[in-house]
Amino acid sequence: MRDPTHPADRPAQLDRPARPDGNAQPDRLALPKAELHVHIEGTLEADMVFRLGARNGVRLPFAGVEDLRARYSFSNLGSFLDLYYSCMAVLRTEDDFFDLADAYLARASKDGVRHAEIFFDPQAHTSRSVPLEAVVNGLTSAVSAARSRYGMSAGLIACFLRDQGPDAAMDTLDQLLHHRDAIIGVGLDSAEVGYPPALFADVFSRARAQGLHCVAHAGEEGPPSYVWEALDVLRVERIDHGVRSLEDRNLVARLADEQVPLTVCPLSNVRLKVVERIEEHPVAAMLEAGLAVTVNSDDPAYFGGYLDDNFAALAQGVGLDSYALRTLARNSLQASFLDDATRKTHLDHLDASED
Ligand code: HPA
Ligand code: ZN
Repeated sequence: MRDPTHPADRPAQLDRPARPDGNAQPDRLALPKAELHVHIEGTLEADMVFRLGARNGVRLPFAGVEDLRARYSFSNLGSFLDLYYSCMAVLRTEDDFFDLADAYLARASKDGVRHAEIFFDPQAHTSRSVPLEAVVNGLTSAVSAARSRYGMSAGLIACFLRDQGPDAAMDTLDQLLHHRDAIIGVGLDSAEVGYPPALFADVFSRARAQGLHCVAHAGEEGPPSYVWEALDVLRVERIDHGVRSLEDRNLVARLADEQVPLTVCPLSNVRLKVVERIEEHPVAAMLEAGLAVTVNSDDPAYFGGYLDDNFAALAQGVGLDSYALRTLARNSLQASFLDDATRKTHLDHLDASED
């Protein structure tokens, strides 16, 4: 029975969110694929910031939607994180987290995303006295509803804020383990430089002992040594970003040998000045080096596009051909934490799909 008061039974939000720049959409590629690096809080569109702000009586330090969008201009990761954390003030209730995730899942399904592994930042909410239950229950309801609403699956990965240190991360893991079945893994995000992965050795070892998948942001702004540490100390299964690995030949050889997936986010890299222009993005060199590259949107509300916008930017800006785009889609399914039978079904659909 449908219960209209339950968030999962409310009508789906199928309308495409307005793009910040108001430009026409690039061609849709919509290859069947997985998205493995998207922060749900980074899908909070400006219009939703104001809608939820009004719903929750949260006063915002922006004059309006256009004023907020005008601030989507960043000099580095830190300047982005300031705005990212400040917009989250509007996320207060289970319904807010449901609506946020539901809007992302609706949007992602239009880009051919058949499976998403979604990051969230528990500490960014518990530090504002939002109960972890509200966060987890809202996100979990949206993920469960996505199968019937959008024909896709999703899993949740809880990220520790590295700039809050290892003790806070361990406390957060304690709380998360009360919701063990709601998450598929743990990750590490927020300000990178100055917070090497090895600080979090004990937290990751405990998470792994609980059967949780382990991933970490490394080599976005931080040096290649952080990628080595994430592999050797945290024993992660994927590296998030990892673009700075190219500065270390031995690291490239290791990543290629072991086929460690890298969840690369091209539009994010341009907006956060990790690379100067999309034309200079090293994704082609990474593929050439035999790395298991995947393409992802990171924080699409802030960085000018969702998953297919990233694919389109690589096609147009870097000149990737349809073979390379298919390789990226294939890699995303290979690198996901799906079970082998489901992965094979998606790969078969990809192989049968047309450009
Ligand atoms: N890097 C680190 N932390 C983040 C990011 C990112 O790109 N997006 C949201 N949190
Ligand atoms: Zn990220």
